[in-house]
Amino acid sequence: MKLMVVGALKPGMVVAQNVYTLDDQLVVSKGTVLDEKTINRINGYSIFNVFIDENIQVKKLSSEIDENRELSFSEKLKLSEDFSRFKTDLEKNSSRLKKTFSAIVNEDKQIDINEITDPVYNLMVEAGAGYGVFDMLNNLHDYSDEIYMHCINVSLICNLIGTWLRLTSEEVKLVTAAGLLHDIGKVKLPENLLNSSTPHSEKDKLLMRSHVTLGYDLVKDMDIDEHIKNCIVMHHERRDGSGYPFHLKGEQIDEFARIVAIADLYDELTSKRLNRGPICAFDVIAMFEKEGLQKFDTKVVMTFLSHISNSFIANRVRLNNGREGDIIFINPDKLSRPMVKCGDDFLDLATHPDLKISEVI
Ligand SMILES: [Fe+2]
Repeated sequence: MKLMVVGALKPGMVVAQNVYTLDDQLVVSKGTVLDEKTINRINGYSIFNVFIDENIQVKKLSSEIDENRELSFSEKLKLSEDFSRFKTDLEKNSSRLKKTFSAIVNEDKQIDINEITDPVYNLMVEAGAGYGVFDMLNNLHDYSDEIYMHCINVSLICNLIGTWLRLTSEEVKLVTAAGLLHDIGKVKLPENLLNSSTPHSEKDKLLMRSHVTLGYDLVKDMDIDEHIKNCIVMHHERRDGSGYPFHLKGEQIDEFARIVAIADLYDELTSKRLNRGPICAFDVIAMFEKEGLQKFDTKVVMTFLSHISNSFIANRVRLNNGREGDIIFINPDKLSRPMVKCGDDFLDLATHPDLKISEVI
């Protein structure tokens, strides 16, 4: 193991110890193979040294093999073998989860937490530790399979948030399982309601909302952790009492359900749905910045926003004036308005209220 200054890091080097910010947030996990994007991200924090594993041979990453400098990070990622493998496995796990949910609902199958979370952990490993999963998810928003893919995405995001919050491994597993099961009650709803591409009537909205209690009724007598049951019934509750079904407030909401709530809403908004396209992640981050502190647990939402914003460093974006550029710095006081390098211009969106990111490309 060798301590290296950040300026000397090269793609292909393997991180030997977790890298944290000065305020103790995880930036890169042990075992991560560095690529240009991760190095840029480390540069974006006040981090000076990183422990590198000298014994692991430096290998070329598939994202580096592409010599075409014109391709954006996202385009290169989508062309990589890692991405197609992740996508295929995500689809396989989605159909497996459909069978599992059906067995739980129709055949009284008991829930085995290890069995259901193993595929999620495999996806985490496959995507690479830390931000790798977000890089994948950021490029996978065109599925309209609402329940199963969404549950896996939420589970992956819950796993990351749990790790960023430095929960114990048992607690991370618990919140990973809760993310996977949070919408199980939707299996009980009529297909035509779930697949409707027109806005729901007031009556249908109420029926949709019943998925939280339907889900709770399904699992309430099962031998699983009470926190998981709470996550199923409480993931639409909001800190200010504006949620449902019980209008719980603050500490009344299970601490794990506060994590699932954020992961659920982020994935819901950034994914394509039958009646709308995906919402740009920076609009969603702006929404969380505006309303997040009233509606969500402060520590969880701040940790989440800081990490997801930084996961976009080195991504190419299109602004609302049509210009394209690369995100080079995330402003910690205005996470949704980073510094973007467009050609030779450095545009600080925090000081350009007329500009905003309309798309990550
Ligand atoms: Fe839900």
